Amino acid sequence: MDGDDAAGAARPDEELTDVENNAADTPTDGRILVVGAGAMGSQIAMACALAGYRVRLHDIAEESLEKARANLTGVMERRVAKGRLSQAESDAAFARLESTTDLDGAAVDADVVIEAAVEKLEVKQDLFARLDTLCPSHTILASNSSSFVPSAIGARTERPDRVCNLHFFNPALVMKCVEVVRSPDTSDATMDAAVALVERLGKEAVVLNKEINGFVANRILGALRDEAVALLEGGYASVSDIDKACRTALGHPMGPFELQDMTGLDIGHAVKQGRYAESGDPADQPQRSLAERVEAGHLGRKTGQGWYRYDSEGNKLGEA
Ligand code: 3HC
Repeated sequence: MDGDDAAGAARPDEELTDVENNAADTPTDGRILVVGAGAMGSQIAMACALAGYRVRLHDIAEESLEKARANLTGVMERRVAKGRLSQAESDAAFARLESTTDLDGAAVDADVVIEAAVEKLEVKQDLFARLDTLCPSHTILASNSSSFVPSAIGARTERPDRVCNLHFFNPALVMKCVEVVRSPDTSDATMDAAVALVERLGKEAVVLNKEINGFVANRILGALRDEAVALLEGGYASVSDIDKACRTALGHPMGPFELQDMTGLDIGHAVKQGRYAESGDPADQPQRSLAERVEAGHLGRKTGQGWYRYDSEGNKLGEA
């Protein structure tokens, strides 16, 4: 389908851009469905609710939805306490954010779906094929995948022109960048609507005109991480000193090991496995020290240990 056809059906383009500013008490008509209530999905959903959208946050597990709501409550309470947000704005955002385990019901009137499920291509392909049958024809299906390209994720849909990636960064309520990735089939209208949505969220769109595994930021970050792990495995410097160099010499807010502990070692491991499966290049395989930690279940902050150890309050105790 060409861009004009898509534009005719791209109700989100109109609805997602017709609000002047980010005032949280100004609802928009756009409905967003976020699939997957993990760390990324829950904060993406709240970012959308804060921007005025009516949002449904879906997860197959009720427990994940409860955990997401508890985490978001903590984040929003801290924002209110710091005077970043009024209590009324926080209440209004929560009122626009509905949690559900019913995907069929949630998809039926979504204008945009942002999928933030587990980073497994087959799972995403199945989900997109299902969403394709459940959602109205105008709905844009976007994935928050950090590596898989839209042509692969949307391969089994009948609407490749309305499939793209909207790749947010962790923590999604804070980080400004969202990569907007098109496949060769993604229409201009879909890209325009996706960029407009990102801007409506108060974020910066980085447009990838051509799809590539890992996109821009994660490819650059991956190169940095690989070098950090190589230096560690070579015995050149410790985890904390490599992190310190990146913070104090390069001005990074966090070192590469601290960052991996925050985003999850399993995510970085899966990304490297995916890259290796695609390229066959041994340099893309997860490194020994990363694989060992993932096999041992030391996945970072979420398990209390990754490259560092943490107490139950999340305070860093020292190198693992
Ligand atoms: N959730 C929500 N808000 C958070 C947060 C979280 N998990 N962590 C920190 N914040 C907020 C704080 O509340 C604070 O808000 P305020 O400005 O309103 O007071 C603000 O972020 C700054 O936090 P802190 O003062 O506590 O600490 P820092 O100044 O060290 O900032 C950080 C924390 C924003 C996480 C900063 O260290 C940072 O930018 N780190 C790098 C993050 C990064 O590189 N992300 C990309 C990872 S790669 C990725 O996501 C790709 C994906 O595919 C895996």
